[in-house]
Amino acid sequence: MHQFNYVGNELYCEKVPVKKIVEEVGTPAYIYSSSTLRSHYTAFDSAFAEVPHIICFAVKANSNLSILGLFGKEGGGADIVSGGELFRALKAGIDPQKIVFAGIGKTGEEIAYALRSNILMFNVESPLELKKINEVAGGLGLKARVALRVNPDIDPKTHPYISTGLKKSKFGIDIKQALQEYQLASTLPHIEVVGIHKHIGSQITEIKPFVAAMEKILDLVARLKDEGIRIRYIDAGGGLGIRYGEEEPPHPRDLGIALLPMIKGLDCTLIFEPGRVIVGNAGILVTQVLYLKSSEVKNFVIVDAGMNDLIRPSLYDAHHEILPVKKTQAVYITTDVVGPICESGDFLAKDRKMFRPEPGEFLAVMSAGAYGFTMSSNYNSRPRSAEVLVEGDQYRVIRRRESYEDLIRGE
Ligand code: LLP
Repeated sequence: MHQFNYVGNELYCEKVPVKKIVEEVGTPAYIYSSSTLRSHYTAFDSAFAEVPHIICFAVKANSNLSILGLFGKEGGGADIVSGGELFRALKAGIDPQKIVFAGIGKTGEEIAYALRSNILMFNVESPLELKKINEVAGGLGLKARVALRVNPDIDPKTHPYISTGLKKSKFGIDIKQALQEYQLASTLPHIEVVGIHKHIGSQITEIKPFVAAMEKILDLVARLKDEGIRIRYIDAGGGLGIRYGEEEPPHPRDLGIALLPMIKGLDCTLIFEPGRVIVGNAGILVTQVLYLKSSEVKNFVIVDAGMNDLIRPSLYDAHHEILPVKKTQAVYITTDVVGPICESGDFLAKDRKMFRPEPGEFLAVMSAGAYGFTMSSNYNSRPRSAEVLVEGDQYRVIRRRESYEDLIRGE
């Protein structure tokens, strides 16, 4: 459930008319609902209440400091993949003992920064990375807590660009080699093996792949135990999907019901790294219609947000609902909704049957809270949009719109 609803003909975010916000802050603007963020976080958290667990929000989905801070206050941690994300998580006040660090290309500098920050653990993605972490930790006179990210070879049945747990994927260590790698890890002087990690993909709309992957992980945990290697943290990654259009994704509760019996007796802390399921439907991108135009074969609605603001439709052919901020007498057309970027791939919707808006009207691109702003860019020298957080009948800008001066800073 989210908090973007019509009151009469007006779209509201919680108790604030969306129009009021964009008339003040301009467009394009990302608008997030704090009560939706909190309720999504709590839904996930309570699904696993029966076992010791940490919810490490995937910072890549939405890295705004105010949003990270909100999860931190709820007791959440962070799943990071770069020094920059670590910097953000720490700035937002997230407890370093709830930070896990994945990613196949961690640099020596990033490893040292994470060690000095005393994060909970590194999710190690290759044998050479393990060696590097051992070296860097040795240089600092520290011991690094690690989990190995194993690749369980499970098909998450999602878009190929966001599948990560198949054999051919660049992520993790082949589950068949994992035992051997764990044995090696446990002999390294500056490494402390504490966990196991997997993440098989994103926007997964079935429970089955999660269960299949967990079975493989638990099998390995048991074999490790026989070898005298004790796993204290099982990090099950992220990946639970959301409803963009017609999908019927499982509720976090269903994931809990499926996984809890499998892990209950184990003396382990469970970690999850949800991103999209927490923030996806808690945010929208509001854009203003600039022009309409038609050719013999096509209608175009030209808006002031482009692929630089929200790249998901261009990159993954992703579907985002587009709703009027103010409903009027609807005349339906089939149209592309396109941005101002000089690329044919710059669209927010293709051949969409929707109401015909008028120039000047505001449109809400729904389900844009995850991988929206974080994937935005300055392409075509377009300043990045503002971000706004609504709380009840109040709202505040949590990232100001970039200026032209921001564009050339550092050049
Ligand atoms: N943990 C790891 C190690 C990950 O790689 C990811 C996402 C997550 C957690 C969070 O996954 P989530 O719960 O959000 O599905 N840009 C794409 C999604 C890329 C996901 C990358 N990894 C999109 O817009 O659909």
